Amino acid sequence: MKTKFITLSVIVLVAFNSLYAMDIANTIIPTKHNKTLSLSDMAEIQPGLGTIMMEFGHRFYITYYAAKASNWELAKYEIDELIEAQEVAETTRPKYTTQLKEFESAFISKLQNSIEKKDWELFKKNYEQTTNACNRCHKENEHPYIQYRLPKEAPKYLKMAL
Ligand code: HEC
Repeated sequence: MKTKFITLSVIVLVAFNSLYAMDIANTIIPTKHNKTLSLSDMAEIQPGLGTIMMEFGHRFYITYYAAKASNWELAKYEIDELIEAQEVAETTRPKYTTQLKEFESAFISKLQNSIEKKDWELFKKNYEQTTNACNRCHKENEHPYIQYRLPKEAPKYLKMAL
């Protein structure tokens, strides 16, 4: 009798919970331009891996020239921001989380270390290894045609050497 009651309570609770979750997902949050936008629609349009990767390419590139110009603070800033972008991808595209975390601990952390030490020779070595790891991950995920390469010139819109 008691077990039956517990089972029934659990079923009711689970059903209630999923109905509640559905309800929340369907909640309309109207904007100035769209009166039918639901929470679920909003969750769906959060940045996916492709968008985050454009940021990766950008920040990774700036990091190199900042370090080269001994602007170690800018180099550190760009890498910190790159990690933040990665964390967004881990939330919106969890299937890449393990690979991204491994990439961070095996390569990005070394790059951070050479930035902390302000060691340009070590940085260059780590940068090359990280680049290879970036491109390996593209291959492993059926995008062998996406090969990052370092642009020949420093970005023009940011001052590198201070
Ligand atoms: C976890 C594996 C992984 C790692 C690590 C990784 N990438 Fe990617 N990258 C991808 C995938 C997958 C795509 C294709 C995106 C998609 O499918 O939406 C991509 C796409 C890209 C693109 C193309 C973006 C566009 O749409 O134009 C660039 C640029 C890029 N990555 C740069 C980098 C750089 C630079 C690094 C290293 C600092 C890096 N990636 C590390 C998996 C990875």
